[in-house]
Amino acid sequence: MSAVKVHFLLDDLLVQAPLGTSLQEIAEAAGADLTFGCRTGSCGTCRVRITEGLAHCSAPNAEEREFLAALKVPADQRLACQVRVNGDVAVDYIGL
Ligand code: FES
Repeated sequence: MSAVKVHFLLDDLLVQAPLGTSLQEIAEAAGADLTFGCRTGSCGTCRVRITEGLAHCSAPNAEEREFLAALKVPADQRLACQVRVNGDVAVDYIGL
C-alpha cells in the first residue's frame, strides 16, 4: 500500500501513513497537537485548515458538510475526525 505524507504545521511534524487513513488516526498515532471530542463530526473540536493538498482529502460526508456550512467557513476547513487522506497534505489546527 502506498503512503501519504502529512505535515502537522503546529508541531512542524511530518509523518507518513497508509493511503486512505483517517486524519484523526494519523494525528493520534503521531502525537500531533490536535484535540478531538465527539469523533463523529458534530462538535468541531478537531477543525483544521488543509493548507496544502485539499484535493487529496476525502469529500465531506453529509454530517461534516452540514456542520461546516453552519459555521460558514471556507472549504479548506475540515473536521479531522471525518477526513481520510488520499495524498500528501499539510494541516493547521484551528479547533472550536
Ligand atoms: S472530534 Fe468532534 S467534530 Fe471531530
